Amino acid sequence: MQIHHTISSLREALANAGRIAFAPTMGNLHPGHASLMQEARQRADTVVASIFVNRLQFGPRDDFDCYPRTFEADCATLTAVGVDHLFAPDENELYPVPQQYFVQPPQAQDMILEGAFRPGHFRGVATVVTKLFNIVRPDIACFGKKDYQQLMVIRNMVHELAMPIEIVGCETVRADDGLALSSRNGYLSPDERREAARLHAELKTIVEAVRNGNRNYRTLEKLAEERLLKSGWEPDYVVVRNQIDLQPPQDDQALVVLGAAKLGATRLIDNLEI
Ligand code: PAF
Repeated sequence: MQIHHTISSLREALANAGRIAFAPTMGNLHPGHASLMQEARQRADTVVASIFVNRLQFGPRDDFDCYPRTFEADCATLTAVGVDHLFAPDENELYPVPQQYFVQPPQAQDMILEGAFRPGHFRGVATVVTKLFNIVRPDIACFGKKDYQQLMVIRNMVHELAMPIEIVGCETVRADDGLALSSRNGYLSPDERREAARLHAELKTIVEAVRNGNRNYRTLEKLAEERLLKSGWEPDYVVVRNQIDLQPPQDDQALVVLGAAKLGATRLIDNLEI
């Protein structure tokens, strides 16, 4: 795997790369990220990954400074799954002047669910992803369904701005008990880790109820939140939404159930398509 710290080095290396698949990351990679790379590998001649901890998507109370940076281990993971090029710029390379131009998702997609808890987050994501797309110029880009709202924002951005990139949503990788893999799972105590799969179990209960014809979404959502509360969680939301723009469901739209809740000091998110 070739490692590039500058835009010019990456662009030169990609001059004759054929069909390019790209998977952007912020590092601290786990098997969920590896599965994005494997998906990318199957779809293109050249696979590019990036590692960049993007200050723009962190709020003032978020953990930008203590975000885990595990570059050596990440390189080993990316090499093992057959990534050809890693783009790992520093902040001066990607933001040589303070960023003044931004990609702003519409409020109805930005300020709901995760965006309501992290104002400005999706503007930061949409801006850096656009910039990375302009640098890598991929044919395909892979994103995990674990961050469902992020995937939705990027899909809609690419569509509305006519970016010539196919966005691939990759399935969430889970532990045996159903817990979605996430860098944040490392913060859970052993007791919390045993409890953590309950969020997935609650979402699954809703999926089954809806598949069996229950359309009383508000009741299903409230019951799941109450059960989480009783088990010591602090739920932020459990909601059934449409898959296209995560608004409340209407008619025959494809649906997804999304949940976010704190277990001790750790906030977990998960979702399941219905
Ligand atoms: O999902 C992530 O790791 C980040 O939000 C992304 C897409 C790499 C943008 O910084």
